[in-house]
Amino acid sequence: MVEKNTDFDKAVDRYNTDCLKFDFAKKRGKPEDVLSYWVADMDFQTSSIVLDKMTERISHGIFGYTETGERYFNAVAGWLKKHHDLDVKEEWLVKTPGVMFALAMVIKALTEPGDRILIQEPLYYPFKQVVEDNGRVVVSSDLYLKNGRYYIDYEDFEKKVVNNHIRMFLLCNPHNPVGRVWSREELERLGDICLANDVIVVSDEIHSDLIVGDVKHTPFLSIKKEYEDISITCTSPAKTFNLAGLQISNIFIPNRTIRHGFERQRDAAGYSQLNTMGIVACEAAYLYGEEWYEAVMTYIKSNLNFLRDYLKENISSVRLIEPEGTYLVWLDMRELNLNEDELEDLIVNKAGLWLDRGAIFGRAGEGFERINIATSREYLKQGLDSLKEAIENYTGICNYVI
Ligand SMILES: Cc1ncc(COP(=O)(O)O)c(C=O)c1O
Repeated sequence: MVEKNTDFDKAVDRYNTDCLKFDFAKKRGKPEDVLSYWVADMDFQTSSIVLDKMTERISHGIFGYTETGERYFNAVAGWLKKHHDLDVKEEWLVKTPGVMFALAMVIKALTEPGDRILIQEPLYYPFKQVVEDNGRVVVSSDLYLKNGRYYIDYEDFEKKVVNNHIRMFLLCNPHNPVGRVWSREELERLGDICLANDVIVVSDEIHSDLIVGDVKHTPFLSIKKEYEDISITCTSPAKTFNLAGLQISNIFIPNRTIRHGFERQRDAAGYSQLNTMGIVACEAAYLYGEEWYEAVMTYIKSNLNFLRDYLKENISSVRLIEPEGTYLVWLDMRELNLNEDELEDLIVNKAGLWLDRGAIFGRAGEGFERINIATSREYLKQGLDSLKEAIENYTGICNYVI
């Protein structure tokens, strides 16, 4: 099998594919011709081998209820072992149509309305939403920024756990949007606080394959045997292989009682089997997608280098928070000295860009923007050129007024 889809410079037209990132600008209050770098998917075709396997399955022509067996589990477990040295058992696996669905089920299964759930802002905003949509209360132990790097305030974390009678912590590992890949030591300090206080750790590891720094991802579950009883690990091929629209994720829950509670909740939601094509794509990606994955990571890393150099040379007022993981880059724009409305006006109306504004990731995100760099270099440059011009003009206007 030969991999054919590794020319990531070749831009693929995503318009008119009902694509959330490009086809819904007007509906979502953006100019129709906006350049789009928001939601977390890639502008790249997935592995051609995955596509071949899907085409083969489509040719069969029957899309009845589909289950997974040993072959599927071995594909998923093989990937996790090879890439993260994580050992999982088949009976731990519960499949869901996405990680956010799993988070909703976990919250419903293991907490009561009104319970407080701990998160770390700035954070991928659906975490807060899913907690609140289920009638639970968010408590954030905000990350803090020091010399361009985000850290955990353990004292604050522990205090919040104890004072709020926290029973669940939603961990984002690696962290979206700040790009930290938490180290074993950092995770262990959090884990031990959770262990001592009967807190369940839901570790969302959807970005674990997307490491761009000189670090390794540590699965929370792999750190200590005791963590098996307090953790739920959410994995997925969706970010790694650009398969989000196929809605497939693999959740590992070693503790039987927790797992059964989770499964009951999933059943109560009326959900049973996965989407057939999601299964085919996931299995193929994990079995045959290595070459594509390595190529896409090389391309994303070179886009990151390009972005870093571009900002340094052309827009020194915008600082890149050096990511260790994810293709989502967190940009510090506080030096521009704009309030939230002015910043939004600059980005959307003056620069014509659709980014994710930092404030939606929590108060700690104000003055920041998140940009998705999983796109062709040319399109990335186009966006940066627009940003440069808009900032120059904006700053020029400000100087003139002053
Ligand atoms: C940290 C994190 N978790 C979950 C998701 C969404 O996953 P899914 O589409 O499987 O629900 C995303 C998507 O951006 C994400 O960044």
